[in-house]
Amino acid sequence: MGSLDNWPQGRRWLLICLVAGGCLACAGAARAQNIAAGQAIFQTQCGICHSPSPGVTLAGPSLFGVENRRAGLVPGFSYSDANRNSGIVWDSATLDLYLTRPKGVVPHNEMTYGGVQDAQKRADLIAYLVTLH
Ligand code: HEC
Repeated sequence: MGSLDNWPQGRRWLLICLVAGGCLACAGAARAQNIAAGQAIFQTQCGICHSPSPGVTLAGPSLFGVENRRAGLVPGFSYSDANRNSGIVWDSATLDLYLTRPKGVVPHNEMTYGGVQDAQKRADLIAYLVTLH
């Protein structure tokens, strides 16, 4: 950064701000892309059994507000004991594990879904799921 040492103090800060601001904008755009990709995956893979809207029960419980909720607590949905008693709190980490191999993480749960094997797809899906609140 030798040449920058010659810059007047104010100009140097301006440059730092521009660079940092650009990075933030980039991160924001990447995140929006993840969410959009995740929504598309949700619609094709999960939407037949789960609604993203509150209070709508399909074959599975609504996933509205799923982040930081304990497993088995959506009112009006009749869960398996396996799910209700799993003690899991859904967050990015537990969702990532569960969605990799639902039956492996919660044996005997009644979600008839094999899992999402692609880590990037799971990350996109979870980026979308945590926006449902
Ligand atoms: C064939 C229907 C079906 C599909 C497809 C499906 N699920 Fe499920 N899901 C269920 C059922 C049924 C349950 C309740 C399981 C139980 O009580 O044992 C459930 C439970 C869950 C839970 C726990 C909810 C809670 O309140 O504890 C999460 C999270 C979840 N599913 C996410 C997903 C995601 C994300 C997808 C798509 C990748 C998906 N599911 C695909 C039927 C499905």
